[in-house]
Amino acid sequence: MNVLTDQLNRPLKDLRISVIDRCNFRCPYCMPQAQYHQHYEFLKNEDWLRFDEIIRLTKIFTTLGVHKVRLTGGEPLLRPQLPELIQKLAQIQNIDDLALTTNGSLLETYAKELKTAGLQRLTISLDALNETTFLAMSGQKGSAQQVLRGIEKAQEIGFADIKINIVIKRGVNDQHFMDIIKYFRGTGIIVRFIEYMDVGTCNHWEQSQVVANKEIHTAIHQQFPLQALEANYFGEVAKRYAFADGRGEIGFISSVSQPFCSDCTRLRLSTDGKIYTCLFASEGVDLRTPLREGAADEELLQIIKNCWQKRSDQYSENRSLLRSLKSPRQKIEMYKIGG
Ligand code: GTP
Ligand code: 5AD
Ligand code: SF4
Ligand code: SF4
Repeated sequence: MNVLTDQLNRPLKDLRISVIDRCNFRCPYCMPQAQYHQHYEFLKNEDWLRFDEIIRLTKIFTTLGVHKVRLTGGEPLLRPQLPELIQKLAQIQNIDDLALTTNGSLLETYAKELKTAGLQRLTISLDALNETTFLAMSGQKGSAQQVLRGIEKAQEIGFADIKINIVIKRGVNDQHFMDIIKYFRGTGIIVRFIEYMDVGTCNHWEQSQVVANKEIHTAIHQQFPLQALEANYFGEVAKRYAFADGRGEIGFISSVSQPFCSDCTRLRLSTDGKIYTCLFASEGVDLRTPLREGAADEELLQIIKNCWQKRSDQYSENRSLLRSLKSPRQKIEMYKIGG
């Protein structure tokens, strides 16, 4: 197989599939309630790629170098019959990593089915343990206890590879991360800090709300000395650190303070069948129309190839410049492509 590369010589390796654009949380940094109220029109069911369509496309992606698949949302566990899709994806040759990112609120209910279907890894978002702070981050939905029960259940039924993602927002949960560190130290679960990003436009992001991961690293290191670890694989977004006392590891995803575009091997497929070459892309390339109009695999392959070969995105590297431009850039919202 010839390696498919983009304009910056980056290969295509990971596919992130958003299976639904809805969510039962309203995190202000992603889907603020004021905009995503009860009358907001999400995609209609017929707009969603069907499972057979997702499978067909995924098989094509694997012929272009994809070997890692992550299911996302919105909240992916809201997609009806999701385990059926997982079971089919798990059977595709050449996919050696099948993971899912969830807000964890429905995990207690679905963990067993997900595992049985063949899901390998789980990443759970959890921004605070303190319930008041949790609610401030989730838009007054769900509870930390419910997420913790989901995580416990997932561990109990045998998920070995579990990660927690925390987004830190200045003045909201930046005083509360130590309790998460203490809670998960020694459990085998890896906590990762994500810098708050200017994804989409509805969160009204400001640089002053970002806490650089360096600050968090320093605070943790003072209490629990850390040692840098090598990346697990080329293009890993998190910088890894081990607790010096051997009680596990944590990670930092610093896409604002230390962008990692030069290694970015990810492509995102939206619920309605568009591919996006960057988290900050303005537009996607539609695969659903040709798919439903009867395109052959070879034609779909060509569309994907052209899209990747043209790719030159490096938004995070050029954030200040791009944000200073007079006409504001259109950006896809996070919940449509799942982060
Ligand atoms: P592993 O496969 O476990 O290494 O995880 P992953 O890197 O695929 O992690 P995950 O999907 O949990 O990503 C964590 C978060 O990092 C995402 O939800 C985004 O917020 C951010 N992130 C991931 N990929 C990118 C990227 O390509 N660009 C930027 N700017 N942020 C990203
Ligand atoms: N900045 C950083 N991370 C974000 N996420 C959602 N919106 C943002 C943002 N603006 C994270 C979620 C979850 C993952 C899917 O993306 O918290 O962990
Ligand atoms: Fe839902 Fe995740 Fe967005 Fe929060 S960040 S609103 S949980 S999709
Ligand atoms: Fe990749 Fe775009 Fe994120 Fe850079 S900003 S790492 S190109 S998704």
